Amino acid sequence: MLEVTSVTKRYGTITALDGISLHIPRGEFFGLLGPNGAGKSTLMSLVAGLRAPDAGGIRVDGVSREAGGGAAVHALGFAPQSIALYEELTAEENLGVFGRLCGLAGSALRARIDECLAAVQLNDRRKHPVKTYSGGMQRRLNLAAALLHSPKLLLCDEPTVGVDPQSRNAIFDLLQRLNREGLTVIYSTHYMEEATRLCSRIGIIDHGRILALGSLDQLIARLPSTEVVTFARNGAASAAVAALAWFGTLREQADSCELHLAPGVRLAEFFAAAQSAGFPDRAFQLKRPTLEDLFLHLTGKTLRE
Ligand SMILES: Nc1ncnc2c1ncn2[C@@H]1O[C@H](COP(=O)(O)OP(=O)(O)O)[C@@H](O)[C@H]1O
Ligand SMILES: [Mg+2]
Repeated sequence: MLEVTSVTKRYGTITALDGISLHIPRGEFFGLLGPNGAGKSTLMSLVAGLRAPDAGGIRVDGVSREAGGGAAVHALGFAPQSIALYEELTAEENLGVFGRLCGLAGSALRARIDECLAAVQLNDRRKHPVKTYSGGMQRRLNLAAALLHSPKLLLCDEPTVGVDPQSRNAIFDLLQRLNREGLTVIYSTHYMEEATRLCSRIGIIDHGRILALGSLDQLIARLPSTEVVTFARNGAASAAVAALAWFGTLREQADSCELHLAPGVRLAEFFAAAQSAGFPDRAFQLKRPTLEDLFLHLTGKTLRE
């Protein structure tokens, strides 16, 4: 559905994309996870054809951006990070404008407007101007505008920033349903929870480069440790703590310890050893590693820094 090959994009002296390559098969729900300034929006704007790369190539649905801009544009829908709607117009009127720009007209356009407003649950507010909408409602209409012409590929750029939980769930449900029906989705976010929940494959991006790419499990497997166990010292003897340190990498704080279990350690084995060292099972808190841990491991900083 999308092939990005060695794409570089500079703004003056800033290199926003640094030789990025990405291949997204049809039907995928792909997550682009990275902090602010990573290059997510730049990549989306190049794929959408709003900017041209300085180097490299982009093919959407098999059509090269340079050769067939028009065909590529019709294959994709773009819900940009900054809301792109006419504030003075109603939802219906906004979709009318975007639909006509995509070549829809008459009863076909009216039918799609009805379908898309229903999909984003804005039917009851369709005759109200966009400036009277909450942030979440504007987000949902922004998404409806991107879906109006029934694209094969949807680019969704941080669609949940500043959105109430109800709208966020409505957006998730809609995107997951459309993806099940065959829509390829590229979803950018700096929230690892969203990438974890929604995406079948995730690319971690920073400084215009893809640092890691794969399914959640494949990405987590790249971490040097698996589970992290924290426990209070509670006066436990140093010898008892030392007996656990054998299972991974131990970080000791004043009154608690954090043990990063080495890959391959079986939890049952660990808990058996802990019990014989005199720790009650309830002394431990177990944490699965997350994409945040991977990002920290790869870059030395957190996603929200
Ligand atoms: N129009 C622009 N002019 C100059 N620099 C820009 C422009 N757009 C983005 N940048 C810079 O390019 C880098 C990537 O930005 P962006 O693609 O918006 O990242 P993200 O969407 O991941 O936050 C940042 O350093 C940003 O400041
Ligand atoms: Mg952005």
